[in-house]
Amino acid sequence: MTSLAEKLAPESIKKLIPYQSARRIGGSGRLWLNANELEQGVQYNSADSDYNRYPDFLPHDIAKAYQEYCETDTPAVAVRGADEAIDLLIRTFCKPGEDKILITSPTYAMYEFCADALAIETLDAPLLAPDFSLNTDQVIQLASSASLVFLCSPNNPTGNLLKRDDIIKVLEGTSDKALVVVDEAYIEFELHSNLVALIKDYPNLVVIRTLSKAFGLAAVRCGFILAAPEVMQFVQKLIPPYPMPDCSAKIVLDALSTQGIKIAMDNTQALIHIKQTFVDAIKAQPWIETIYPSSTNFVLIRTKQDVNLFDYLKKHGVVTRNQSHESALHNCVRITIGTQASMLEVADLICQYPQTSL
Ligand SMILES: Cc1ncc(COP(=O)(O)O)c(C=O)c1O
Repeated sequence: MTSLAEKLAPESIKKLIPYQSARRIGGSGRLWLNANELEQGVQYNSADSDYNRYPDFLPHDIAKAYQEYCETDTPAVAVRGADEAIDLLIRTFCKPGEDKILITSPTYAMYEFCADALAIETLDAPLLAPDFSLNTDQVIQLASSASLVFLCSPNNPTGNLLKRDDIIKVLEGTSDKALVVVDEAYIEFELHSNLVALIKDYPNLVVIRTLSKAFGLAAVRCGFILAAPEVMQFVQKLIPPYPMPDCSAKIVLDALSTQGIKIAMDNTQALIHIKQTFVDAIKAQPWIETIYPSSTNFVLIRTKQDVNLFDYLKKHGVVTRNQSHESALHNCVRITIGTQASMLEVADLICQYPQTSL
């Protein structure tokens, strides 16, 4: 017999395959290098206090601290992670069953997932160039039938920064048609390339940020939307009444203090150095086809066809992300850059392949 829930659930939800987050995939291992987190946590000083009152609606002190960090007076709003920002923007600007979003695959899977959940069609202008750069003409052409264009820069899982001139071309080509949402989750690894200052000239630009990556606060759940006032007025209508738990808010304020920012920037520089040392240590392996240039805290590695790097590392307790399910990323594995000790271990394992292979 059909259950009530079965009868009530919309077709779009029945068809939906849950987003395969690193935590949902689970598994076992010693080194967890599959979710682009900061492997070694940062201690902040937030003092405990009472939690009997509801938190601030749109915590202004956090938004102000983030604007100062970005050196901008463009409106910013804090949300529970960049994932909530993606969902919120789609719910705000797309009519279910009618409107479309545009992505440039391979890219972060949550754009399409959030759209699917709302019965919003996803168009794709794939990154077919060897350096995964944008096909701007196709993006502009398809954007004429989309409400939101999601560009991820630096892109997950390919690691490349999209060219500023290409993004400007897309902004100009879509100015009266679509909002262009640039997801800068990894921008701290190439901070000078950030696009926040462009919002003043291009009011169809929306920037998404997170404290989950360079700031090492994935468990705190804090992200940001930066957008022109005319965009923000609609986003704020749908924002949940109490978007940020107070205990998270306190940690966020510590992280965005002068000292907190310095810690994050120093960690970022150290991580960039570890990444380069790791790449140098493995690049001579004859079975590695490409180590893609990365403006992030991960590297994407393409191996020769008969090599199964993902399973090999897993067998040795190292959990990475297999990207082979994407047609453009056959034989590709994404490895988060962890601590120096972890990466030395992973590099050693990689250099021992195939002698100790499966
Ligand atoms: C490109 C991109 N955007 C957004 C997110 C989600 O970030 P948050 O933890 O802030 O929800 C991720 C997480 O991996 C990501 O890679």
